[in-house]
Amino acid sequence: MADAVYPVPADWAENALITAPVYEERYRMSIEQPDAFWREEAARIDWIRPFTRVSEASFHEADFGIKWFADGTLNLAANCLDRHLEERGDQVAILWEADSPDAASRAITYGELHEMVCRFANLLKAQGVRKGERVTLYLPMVPEAAVAMLACARIGAIHSVVFAGFSPEALAGRIQDCDSRIVVTADEGLRGGKKVPLKANVDAALGHNCEAVDTVIVLKHTGADVPMTQGRDIDWAMGVAAQSADCPAEEMGAEDPLFILYTSGSTGKPKGVLHTTGGYAVWAAMTFQYVFDYRPGQIYWCAADVGWVTGHSYVVYAPLMTGATTVMFEGVPTWPDASRFWQIVDKFGVEIFYGAPTALRALMREGDEWVTRTSRKSLRLLGSVGEPINPEAWEWYHRVVGEGRCPIVDTWWQTETGACMMTPLPGAHALKPGSAAKPMFGVRPLLLDNEGQVIEGAGEGCLVIDRSWPGQMRTVWGDHERFFQTYFTTFKGLYFTGDGCKRDEDGYYWITGRIDDVINVSGHRMGTAEVESALVAHPKVAEAAVVGMPHAVKGQGIYAFVTTNVEVEPDEQLRRDLVQWVRREIGPIATPDIIQFTPALPKTRSGKIMRRILRKIGENDLSNLGDISTLADPQVVEHLVAGRPQLA
Ligand code: WT7
Repeated sequence: MADAVYPVPADWAENALITAPVYEERYRMSIEQPDAFWREEAARIDWIRPFTRVSEASFHEADFGIKWFADGTLNLAANCLDRHLEERGDQVAILWEADSPDAASRAITYGELHEMVCRFANLLKAQGVRKGERVTLYLPMVPEAAVAMLACARIGAIHSVVFAGFSPEALAGRIQDCDSRIVVTADEGLRGGKKVPLKANVDAALGHNCEAVDTVIVLKHTGADVPMTQGRDIDWAMGVAAQSADCPAEEMGAEDPLFILYTSGSTGKPKGVLHTTGGYAVWAAMTFQYVFDYRPGQIYWCAADVGWVTGHSYVVYAPLMTGATTVMFEGVPTWPDASRFWQIVDKFGVEIFYGAPTALRALMREGDEWVTRTSRKSLRLLGSVGEPINPEAWEWYHRVVGEGRCPIVDTWWQTETGACMMTPLPGAHALKPGSAAKPMFGVRPLLLDNEGQVIEGAGEGCLVIDRSWPGQMRTVWGDHERFFQTYFTTFKGLYFTGDGCKRDEDGYYWITGRIDDVINVSGHRMGTAEVESALVAHPKVAEAAVVGMPHAVKGQGIYAFVTTNVEVEPDEQLRRDLVQWVRREIGPIATPDIIQFTPALPKTRSGKIMRRILRKIGENDLSNLGDISTLADPQVVEHLVAGRPQLA
């Protein structure tokens, strides 16, 4: 732990929406009088029929279930659009920056966005899309991604956004899992000057047991000549041109599903995290306003992709509910050069910037000059999300990017939690580099030891949350039992986050990283089991075990131990083949950093792989392998240690 502490700057301590005394008072109220607290906070949403009941939630098996504002009705797209038309119809809602700095940017007002959403919603309806139906979105970072999400929300369809970096195989699995018969995509995406063949990927995915898909809507983005299948594929622009700009917003129950987003866990296939409408809306909008101290008119940029939950909550829904101007960027931080982010900040006058540690580490490596040659004088607040931020990267962000004047909100949360759970609030909390500081209103974090005993005061343990909050996921799509088993049985009656965490003497929380078989590669969450099953699907592979390893830019890299079939002689060619194989099965984000061939994996006598040892080898912590006497063949470890390749 770094011991630097940055006090709240005086102007923030005075003028922020949430100052230190306000935080204390509101936090106490949120815990002691939750009904009254949430009634107040829920007033930020336009309800069609007001709710009478706040929350009915239990994490216990007998009466397990999570409901918030259950008898209220609303429409989230109307909360993002219609409610603003009178006051800010001409204000820019989305500022879009293309991959290439030479391409034109776009500014879309609330009025224009409303019209785009209504037309696209009518196109979906014309294709027979009904309330409750699943629509898969596989789109680049363009305003139309937000349009498609909001159009689904407007008519009560459930969107499932699949990150455009996923392979056709991964896309197919997600289409099948939620029985989606309609896919929305683009001809191509662009990232760092490279084309991403989205339509071709969809065509390939639909060859993989996706017979149910009868409609593909294709946005022309790069204008590439992509084959269109007669009777199935519809051109976005032609489709919406035939539609009316009038589309009434469907009245949705607070607990009606809003979206599914697939995320990786320690076991099995990625699970479809389901979020519902009312609680998610209140939670996303509230956290947005307080965490970013958001004031109407400010230019705000969250550099996440809409393919991840951060993009859902903090690029699209929360900013638009709040009437913000939200920046969307199609490209990458390092192309054409490492000034790109900060040039965009200057171009648009961005006041609040929210990004990922992995991007900061990549930029930090390129040197300060790329940053300091830009002005950045518009910036007033910085955010970090997705993985632990190491104190060096934090200090660099603070000193070089923010010139020491911008507080950094290090926000800890998860796909499952909908929005921020622990974070400093810029006007309330002194900052400690690397710490997510304090819980958000309504969040009660507990640290447990391995026996499940609560750790009081300073200490380190498993992070659990002891009561429901409005934006909590409601189920795993199609597998409610898996939802219960995954999150509420490790420690009975508590939500288990999968993260380890420390609490210091000041009650500040420090996330130490995943303690399950999930790794975080460049802020992308991956189950080691997924990479393993991709590897063993290769005809030459007998067995594979995957662990995380420290990586200077990615945070964690992927370290794979592979045993080949006996007749196979592993060589460099096979290593390269396996890397390509995994990229094709899952996507480039799953590219293994190290593949170590080994004649055997370390197993206990009952045949269980001893991952603890593999993790230590992955970390290159070879002096500290622990007790290996329970291994069936302790010699395996010597081979593994001797055969550890070093990173180039
Ligand atoms: C996992 C969740 C947060 C939404 C995007 C990622 C790690 C996330 C932080 C942070 C330390 C963090 C945790 C968490 N994580 N934010 N500020 N400090 N760790 O959502 O893909 O569901 O991943 O990301 O390990 O469990 P996700």
